[in-house]
Amino acid sequence: MNPTQQVLDPVTEADTPTNVYRLPATDALVALHTAARDRTASQADFIRAAARLIHIVLEESLARMRHTQATVTTPTGFQFTGLKRTQDDIFAVSVPRAGDAFEAELRQLCPGARLGKILIQRDPTTKLPHLFYTKLPRDIAGREVLLMDPMLATAGTTLLAIDTLEAAGVREQDIIFANVLACPSGLEALTKARPATRVVTSFVDEGLTEQAFMRPGIGDFGDRYFGTTS
Ligand code: PRP
Repeated sequence: MNPTQQVLDPVTEADTPTNVYRLPATDALVALHTAARDRTASQADFIRAAARLIHIVLEESLARMRHTQATVTTPTGFQFTGLKRTQDDIFAVSVPRAGDAFEAELRQLCPGARLGKILIQRDPTTKLPHLFYTKLPRDIAGREVLLMDPMLATAGTTLLAIDTLEAAGVREQDIIFANVLACPSGLEALTKARPATRVVTSFVDEGLTEQAFMRPGIGDFGDRYFGTTS
């Protein structure tokens, strides 16, 4: 499917743009989403479910990084020809606040990952993103980079983060956007503007409300994860 083709509602696998990988909706994955989306979930319950979703998304995102052929000798003296990650170091960038939820899971999988931050916050009324702060690993230019934010609504935040990475010398085709929850219009806006960027998401919701809230949604991910709601 052409990435610019309109994504239909309700969302089906066939509607997803080609550079977007949606995790298969296994019972276990749907159960994690059900636990995380439940408005009665405690902060601990939310974090437990969200962390597992992030872990799965990160594994799939890491699996999509470039690999090259590598041969090792096994303990029995035979040769095994397989693969190794092309890049020795993992370069990752989170979009605080909600993107910070990826940090603990990333550290488990790749303790030596080089982690940058692009702080973007949406205006509560206009929903337009504003860039407040950027700190990236010094030699990020030309690297393959994992961009991490659990939510993709209008895509304004993600597009601004990609612009910021590009200004630092990262090519759009070298970005893998690791995401927990997206919606069709956000994916369409992202893939239209940045057709070479790869996206890994665990779920595509039905759409956005007029106030740009995800439907059926998960609430404010950052507030629920960091306990800043009552
Ligand atoms: C949320 C979320 C994304 C962004 C997605 O952040 O974490 O960064 O909104 O929305 P968009 O696709 O319409 O740009 P928010 O600005 O609410 O800040 P938070 O992480 O502090 O909750």
